[in-house]
Amino acid sequence: MDSLLKVSDLRVSFPSRTGWVEVVSNLSFQIQPSEIVGLVGESGSGKSMTGLSLMRLIAPPGRAQGSILWKGSEEILTMPPRRLRSLRGAEIAMIFQDPFTSLNPLMTVGAQIAENVQLHQNLKGKAAWNQAVEMLERVHLPSPETLAKRYPHQLSGGQRQRVMIAMAFVCQPALLIADEPTTALDVTLQVQILALLKELRDQFKTAILLISHDFGVIGAVCQRVMVMYAGRLVETGSARDTLSAPLHPYTQALLESLPTPGAIPQPIPGQPPEPSRRPDGCAFHPRCRFAFDRCSQNTPALLQLGGEQQAACFLREREQKHL
Ligand SMILES: Nc1ncnc2c1ncn2[C@@H]1O[C@H](COP(=O)(O)OP(=O)(O)OP(=O)(O)O)[C@@H](O)[C@H]1O
Ligand code: SF4
Ligand SMILES: [Mg+2]
Repeated sequence: MDSLLKVSDLRVSFPSRTGWVEVVSNLSFQIQPSEIVGLVGESGSGKSMTGLSLMRLIAPPGRAQGSILWKGSEEILTMPPRRLRSLRGAEIAMIFQDPFTSLNPLMTVGAQIAENVQLHQNLKGKAAWNQAVEMLERVHLPSPETLAKRYPHQLSGGQRQRVMIAMAFVCQPALLIADEPTTALDVTLQVQILALLKELRDQFKTAILLISHDFGVIGAVCQRVMVMYAGRLVETGSARDTLSAPLHPYTQALLESLPTPGAIPQPIPGQPPEPSRRPDGCAFHPRCRFAFDRCSQNTPALLQLGGEQQAACFLREREQKHL
């Protein structure tokens, strides 16, 4: 069976005074239908740029190169504009951390969702409105008929995030890209929103790419996880294995930096490098407690280790050779 999405050697770059700077490098991964995949990494690691590329939303002069194959047959990076418009919103939808950036302050939330229905489905007027109200009910907003007639500023932060989710799911997309959808919310609301995403995935069979810098969020809902550092994928595997037995020193360090009962959090020393100043070799080497000679000279490739787990680290390569 074809993957829903197959990304091969994706590179995202921006021009600078000294030439093109790559912010995402050699990224390859696949997403299967109705799978929930987490994308995690520190700020600046390239998570949002990856998410935006999938909808071809990198603003010029930035550029995305490589291949993003949709349902095994369509290349998103060279898709004609007309087809791209029908793909966005209807087949691939996106939600962000701050619903204010994506909701129109001058339209009622019901009208905005209905507009999305009209744009992508053959429904008009009252039928589109009814669908919007039904969707508001499905995201468990109280009195959806009344709420549909309100403007974004008349809703709470949690309600606005549910409206965003209703808008994203109303056309039953095959893929949802959720970029830090719960970061602005308190912990109780976070748990509710994640449960809602999972529930809607079950109903609509929508695959979800969940972008977060928070392993707690990823662990709560994802089957699979991808860890990014300095624009590259450094580890991927099932969420259970990756969180319980990480194989890349960066993933290990990220997990050790989290507050956990009975352990003192160990912050990762130093800062992630700016894209224009990424060190040669393994970009993590200046911060890695296991770094050895080779790490500053060559870039490690992702290596297939037991089961589904892959990591890009010379330490693992060395161990594998000595087995
Ligand atoms: N328009 C732009 N021009 C140049 N560089 C950019 C541009 N937009 C983003 N970048 C750089 O690309 C890198 C990756 O950014 P991205 O937004 O993908 O990070 P992120 O992993 O989503 O971080 P965060 O967790 O803070 O959201 C960053 O170093 C950022 O400074
Ligand atoms: S390749 Fe070297 S520097 Fe990079 S994570 Fe592995 S041991 Fe650390
Ligand atoms: Mg981001």
